Amino acid sequence: MSFLIVSPGRDPKPWLEALKNQHPGLNIYVYPEDHDKEEVEFALAWNHPRGLFKNYPNLKVVASMGAGVDHITSDRELPENIKITRVVDQQLTTDMSDFVLAQVMDHVRRLSYYKAQQVEKSWNRKPYKRPKNTTVGIMGIGVLGSAVGEKLAKNGFNVLGWAKSSKDKKDINTYCGKEGLEEFLPQVEILVCLLPLTSKTENILNRDLFDQLPEGAYVINVARGEHLVEQDLLRMIGSGHLSGAALDVFREEPLPEDHPFWTEPKIHITPHIASVTKASSVVPQIIENYERLQDDEPLKNVVERDKGY
Ligand code: GLV
Repeated sequence: MSFLIVSPGRDPKPWLEALKNQHPGLNIYVYPEDHDKEEVEFALAWNHPRGLFKNYPNLKVVASMGAGVDHITSDRELPENIKITRVVDQQLTTDMSDFVLAQVMDHVRRLSYYKAQQVEKSWNRKPYKRPKNTTVGIMGIGVLGSAVGEKLAKNGFNVLGWAKSSKDKKDINTYCGKEGLEEFLPQVEILVCLLPLTSKTENILNRDLFDQLPEGAYVINVARGEHLVEQDLLRMIGSGHLSGAALDVFREEPLPEDHPFWTEPKIHITPHIASVTKASSVVPQIIENYERLQDDEPLKNVVERDKGY
């Protein structure tokens, strides 16, 4: 059986090298080089061309190169029998929680604001809030959301969580469902989105939701650009209801030069860098699943296809 890497727009070389190091006998093709489609049983993918995998009659698994799987689940032509796996990686999780903590601290201590002031040689001291007086709400209490919540709680913040179904978490008081969301939002001063992208969560960061946040709330999106209704964010910042946002993900990446986010001083843009998968760290779990497939054993980190995560 053969292994296929499909990652247009993302360099496959580190993945190829790490796979070869870990499993020297593996027969690997890199799309679109010439290969026999019938041989391929396992694919490693990032943003594959839509409909590609229906042409592989023996394909059993599509493994995501990252934690997100929306780039795979959104392919309507992906045959039902193909299993999808995602990455669960300690380094990726730590990187995400470090990044969100940094953004939250930047906001409460106004570091970016003072950086902008420096350009104008302006000495303008503002009051600041301490972590113990600040409530951060995390939407999406999966592997990443839980780790982010724990790190924020360790750093003294009050942490609330919201998830589709109920979760029991030590440091995070978690709400669930539609009613839970109505209780959760009015308490949240800094909202962090770490939801998976599904048809139910697309456009969830919209005017209606922002309206329920207290005046002056701040939004951090480190999930997917499609969670956010961009015009609604701009309007709510313009009206002063939201104090600003830190965005790491966008509907179109790289963010187009003429996009209004670039020139909104209250929006802090980072280029999808919160937590980047490192091939050498992730390849062992990919190989483990490849071997599990060969031995007919259950795979790890399988996505529930009907849920989309
Ligand atoms: C990155 O966005 C990922 O899903 O790993």
